[in-house]
Amino acid sequence: MKDRKDIVVSDEEMAVQKGYISAIRDALNREMRYCIVTLGCQMNAHDSETIAGMLDQMGMTPAESREQADLVLYNTCCVRENAENKALGNVIWLKELKALKPDLIIGVGGCMMQEEGMGEKVRKMYPFVDLAFGTHNMYRLPELLYRVICEKQRAIEITREDGGICEGLPVHRRNNFSAYINIMYGCNNYCSYCIVPYVRGRERSRDMDKIVEEAKALADSGVQEIMLLGQNVNSYMGGGAHFAELLYRLDQLDIPRVRFMTSHPKDISDELIACFGELHHLCKQLHLPVQAGNDRILSQMNRRYTREQYLDKVRALRAVCPEIGLTSDIIVGFPGETLEEFEDTVSLIDEVRYDAAYTFIYSPRPGTRAANMPDDTPMEEKSRRIQRLIEHQQRITTELCTRQIGRIEPVLVEEVSARDAQCVGGKTERGHMVNFAGEPSLIGRIVPVKITSAGKNTLRGEML
Ligand code: 5AD
Ligand code: SF4
Repeated sequence: MKDRKDIVVSDEEMAVQKGYISAIRDALNREMRYCIVTLGCQMNAHDSETIAGMLDQMGMTPAESREQADLVLYNTCCVRENAENKALGNVIWLKELKALKPDLIIGVGGCMMQEEGMGEKVRKMYPFVDLAFGTHNMYRLPELLYRVICEKQRAIEITREDGGICEGLPVHRRNNFSAYINIMYGCNNYCSYCIVPYVRGRERSRDMDKIVEEAKALADSGVQEIMLLGQNVNSYMGGGAHFAELLYRLDQLDIPRVRFMTSHPKDISDELIACFGELHHLCKQLHLPVQAGNDRILSQMNRRYTREQYLDKVRALRAVCPEIGLTSDIIVGFPGETLEEFEDTVSLIDEVRYDAAYTFIYSPRPGTRAANMPDDTPMEEKSRRIQRLIEHQQRITTELCTRQIGRIEPVLVEEVSARDAQCVGGKTERGHMVNFAGEPSLIGRIVPVKITSAGKNTLRGEML
């Protein structure tokens, strides 16, 4: 295991980057507006908040759209091929914008840039991209931007070595009531289909005191909900008990809601399960991706649990917290998956009865083990399977929504309802979206709502 000082970016290096932030702020003699386009998961969304925090400190301001921006940054994803195509398509679209607006600065960062050979590809094939960085050196954005803005150079820099943990970077949060907190980075699991360990590196956990400090500052500023983030939060500090310990410490703070994602079923410890029965602020909700319901496929995926072991965890969780809402990720059409094996996934969702499941058709990713496995199932068949799974899950989701009718639930109000300006919407502890008549001034507050009816995926209610 690496020494802690080797996985934290030094204060000196952080000071250098702060120096570049000041230098850009001093050098900017015009208004500079930025637009960050984020693709992918919550980790990326939170990285974008950090990028925005740095740009704010440079004296830049957010633009309403890409067209109005002087700097457009893409924070990319590569978990499936279509995410990558979307990122590349978007970047190419910017070439036309730059033809109309030659001073436009275009930057690309995130997971796709961290893929093998991508830096070279961008350097050679996308000459209109001014700036590129990976996931490991995002904290060096001030220096790279300095080169582009002040030295009029291109700055394409991708480092292969795992990025250090950065403390104290500014964060421009998406709102003032619900906040993301990174607790660990990277993944050591090497599920055979997954590119994440290659682009996010090995597991590195943040210091527990630093996390609690950040959470405390958020509590003091009135934040109502925190979402702890990591590719595999249960192996925080290398053991389940450590993660449970962190949850206990966070439970002492004045933050009514604590959530976390993503969890690996093999690392759900007894201590963590007990948290769902004991902690006051931990929401009764868990995203616990199963990926497949068949043992042979699970083994080919290198998930390191069987269907029964997964179901045992679910039973243990429900024993301490009967109302827990579970959600999942499921991959359909993994190489060699037979129809019978797929049916095991359908029967598993019947057994677990998830509140919701995010379903994906398997997408081969370069460099992963599964990319070399023979795959002879035609795409039409895979599409039929995913369709069947979606319909099946939809019935369960709607049934579980209907069961909420009549309950009184605390709801954290998040937004004015998109369909009806007289209504607001927010989530229950379990994660169900509820819409009800209410003023925008309720946004950011937790209020009691009686659930009166259920739609396919969402609920309606009345505030009490
Ligand atoms: N193909 C399809 N889905 C994938 N996921 C990860 N890698 C792939 C892939 N190669 C899904 C998994 C994971 C979620 C974030 O994305 O279900 O849990
Ligand atoms: Fe990918 Fe598996 Fe790690 Fe999740 S646990 S990021 S699916 S390798």
